[in-house]
Amino acid sequence: MRAVDLIIKKKNGGTLTREEIKFLIKGYVDGRIPDYQMSSLLMAICFQGMNEQEQSDLTLEMLLSGERIDLSSINGICVDKHSTGGVGDKTTLVVAPLAAACGLKMAKMSGRGLGHTGGTLDKLEAIPNFRIALSPRDFFRQVEEISLAVAGQTANIAPADKKLYALRDVTGTVEAVGLIASSIMSKKLASGATHILLDVKVGDGAFMKDLDSARELAKAMVAIGNRNGRVTAALLTDMDQPLGSAVGNALEVIEAIETLKGRGPKDLEELSLRIVSELLLMTGLENSEEEASARAKRALEDGSALNKFRQMIEYQGGDARVIEDYSLLPAAKITIEVRANSEGHVRNVRALAIGNAAMLLGAGRVTKEDEIDLAVGIKVHAKVGDRIKKGDLLATVHGNEKNLEEAVDMVRSAFEISDQKIVPNKLILDVIK
Ligand code: URA
Repeated sequence: MRAVDLIIKKKNGGTLTREEIKFLIKGYVDGRIPDYQMSSLLMAICFQGMNEQEQSDLTLEMLLSGERIDLSSINGICVDKHSTGGVGDKTTLVVAPLAAACGLKMAKMSGRGLGHTGGTLDKLEAIPNFRIALSPRDFFRQVEEISLAVAGQTANIAPADKKLYALRDVTGTVEAVGLIASSIMSKKLASGATHILLDVKVGDGAFMKDLDSARELAKAMVAIGNRNGRVTAALLTDMDQPLGSAVGNALEVIEAIETLKGRGPKDLEELSLRIVSELLLMTGLENSEEEASARAKRALEDGSALNKFRQMIEYQGGDARVIEDYSLLPAAKITIEVRANSEGHVRNVRALAIGNAAMLLGAGRVTKEDEIDLAVGIKVHAKVGDRIKKGDLLATVHGNEKNLEEAVDMVRSAFEISDQKIVPNKLILDVIK
């Protein structure tokens, strides 16, 4: 087999076999296939696409390039949720303890943030002394004992994807649905859960800007999961405006705790409850939408989800007093209010501008090596559809010295006020099963 023949085959619209995909991936990881040939193949895939079988084969070959986590020794049903990334998306901090309180096991490997989207690990590190590096033994023991752990990846998961993703990033080949789906699912399948719920974000602040492409990606990922023996479903959810109010690591931890106390923003609560309800249905722990939703709500209202979050902090060495005392979390030195200079209805709170403003303040990374400031961020007080008067508070910028004025300008520019009444998008736009 020669790489050049397979590149030509794909360029001409052919279908690659499992053996051919294996040859390409193994060859690339081993260094026998150089970057220039792999780049050419990736570009051919961008133009010609891959069918379901090719996507599944690529996913498996990338998965097999590294370690897999075997959760089968854990007593109970191990579930996972994955978000394709958004602004203010702290859903995992609510969903993981809520799912655990509903009888599911959440053994979750999370990642750090890059670009304008945040990462769960960064948020958790805002909690003093919280350990995200758990040994496999501690990780498994914790899931057995309290049904949840959220930790950084220790195993060498899908190294082929890591190498390919870095190449895609610099060759203009990130945006191909089949490549994105295989990349995400290779890591999800390697993480060992039997039931996977994907939250595919759609809109200005998301990877997928429109509903059609988000639906295509969701369908591709669901097909890969189901073909490979995992019960997989996806929600398509709005990311035209930030989720909830808080954007920035410590601020998002506070908002997640407030949500677990039943006092969080409605959109974050709705999404968290829906994700857990779907997981309860997928796993068969509940048989009807009403029962699943009632069980999730109960776990929020009776404090059991909050209690799971407390246990997780304690098990992972963190200071659980943060739940009652937010002053123990990092706080920015300066707060600047952004107020409306006209009256009307909020037409837009552009998620991307808010995410970029948070990044300017230091809440996110431009490159993987960047240090972040856990204290800084933005609180968004006005949401799409709200009626506002001149002088009303739109947002509060929490900053230290870094780029404060630029960030304030960017936050101001994120808001668009209309004199017409605005009906906000639905939060949950579709479900793919
Ligand atoms: N996230 C991933 O993990 N892979 C992609 O290809 C795109 C987003």
